Amino acid sequence: MNIILLGPPGAGKGTQARILMERRGLVQLSTGDMLRAAVTAGTDVGRKAEAVMKAGGLVSDDIVIGVVGDRLDAPDVKAGVIFDGFPRTTPQAEALDGLLAEKGMTLDAVVNMVVDDAAMVGRISGRYTCANCGEGYHDVDKAPAVAGVCDKCGSTEFKRRKDDNAETVAARLKEYHAETAPLIAYYKATGKLRDVDGMAEIGEVTRQVEAALG
Ligand code: AP5
Repeated sequence: MNIILLGPPGAGKGTQARILMERRGLVQLSTGDMLRAAVTAGTDVGRKAEAVMKAGGLVSDDIVIGVVGDRLDAPDVKAGVIFDGFPRTTPQAEALDGLLAEKGMTLDAVVNMVVDDAAMVGRISGRYTCANCGEGYHDVDKAPAVAGVCDKCGSTEFKRRKDDNAETVAARLKEYHAETAPLIAYYKATGKLRDVDGMAEIGEVTRQVEAALG
């Protein structure tokens, strides 16, 4: 099964992708994670992406499509892919159609996570992750069971993203409405779009995502 999680910054795409990975054995393909890894590694892609990401803009379609195309050549994607944060523009959606056809893959569902913009700033500015395993937490909504210790792996190291501040979130939301929101109509036309209430609590969102996937 190959699916897209669609939604603005903070909608819970990464949170639900991690849950689906564990439950269904799918592979999470997060373009944000891949670009951040490229920035950390100082690759050519990373150097081109860094300033754009810091400002909350969108990295160019050519770069992102290239990164995804390469990733889809890896053998693990045969287990099924959760596209998290991709596609984000109409050219990216069209390129994905081509890539999937080329690789003999099909798109099964597009889950549209419906949220209120106003709540996303609070979600994102409170977010942090385990530096070891990547498990996501939130200052108010999702603290580890034992303060300062990751529930999943026991690490005591945590990190916050450089683009998780109110100013950059506003820019990211603006980009979402200008460039990504039109994909709702794009996928509605395919009959594969399913809305879920991304404002519900995390477990309820998972229940709705599972129901949408059937
Ligand atoms: P990316 O890493 O994709 O970030 P994003 O889309 O802005 O999404 P986020 O990771 O911020 O949010 P999320 O929906 O995953 O929410 P999460 O589950 O973490 O992209 C970063 C940048 O990379 C972009 O700005 C761009 O520059 C570049 N980029 C990436 N892909 C690109 C592309 N395709 N084209 C061009 N450029 C690209 O949840 C957020 C918080 O809320 C967490 O703390 C979580 O615990 C909490 N939470 C989650 N669900 C709930 C809930 N139901 N109730 C309460 N709290 C919740």
